[in-house]
Amino acid sequence: MPQRTIHHAEALAWLGEQGVIAGASFVTSLPDFSEFPKLSLDEWKVWFTDAAARVLLACPPDGVIIFYQRDQKQAGTWVDKGHLVQKAAERTGHAQLWHKIVCRARPGCATFGQPGFSHLLCFSQGVRAEVGLSTPDVLPLAGEQTWTRGMGLLACEVACRFILDQTQTRTVVDPFCGHGTVLAVANDLGLDAVGVELGRKRAERARELEVKDGVLVPRKRPGTATVGGLEDGAQPQRSGTSQG
Ligand SMILES: C[S@@+](CC[C@H](N)C(=O)[O-])C[C@H]1O[C@@H](n2cnc3c(N)ncnc32)[C@H](O)[C@@H]1O
Repeated sequence: MPQRTIHHAEALAWLGEQGVIAGASFVTSLPDFSEFPKLSLDEWKVWFTDAAARVLLACPPDGVIIFYQRDQKQAGTWVDKGHLVQKAAERTGHAQLWHKIVCRARPGCATFGQPGFSHLLCFSQGVRAEVGLSTPDVLPLAGEQTWTRGMGLLACEVACRFILDQTQTRTVVDPFCGHGTVLAVANDLGLDAVGVELGRKRAERARELEVKDGVLVPRKRPGTATVGGLEDGAQPQRSGTSQG
């Protein structure tokens, strides 16, 4: 029976106490600028890049670190979290193994709030991807989410299956685990899971969330759900225009 441990704690302090976590790979989604009302955008970018570097350095050479991040449209500018994670990886000397795009709106549709895709980015010190085992670079659906900031179920499955198939590590750590989507998926695939979450209620939910018959249980809350990871309200884009 795969294990699940959730720590109600501050992630960076917790990571500092652990050092390098033997036998672990990481799948995580670092918090957004909107979660730091006291920081300027430039200050948040420094926090984000430093936090990504701390996550990278906690992973052993035989593990991988997979970031699931959605960019942000901010006052007429584009905040590219994929770039920030890549900057952290260059600083720590990790190689990028792959970069997948997870559609959050139908291709060809404009989005007016958040971008229409998320990044799924994989890094490692010692692991190299087996080209013959490649999986699609563009995921048409993120999958079920329990809340707007949650990871999509299908994207979590891609991340955890890569860990299972192409590393020797058998524990998935998410230091910013929210409701624990990736931890539930990891357990469903037979991997142990460790999560850290600052919010008490979210930490409680992360202890309970499960995948049953291909869906997340407890079920989605009304009003925060998406269907198949594609958001309602995206309008078809006029031909000849492009975004991003
Ligand atoms: C993008 S969400 C993660 C969503 C999660 N992957 C899911 O599927 O539900 C980021 C999470 O980090 C948590 N968080 C923010 N700052 C934190 C910190 N310093 N330490 C631990 N958790 C933190 C937030 O409460 C939020 O739940």
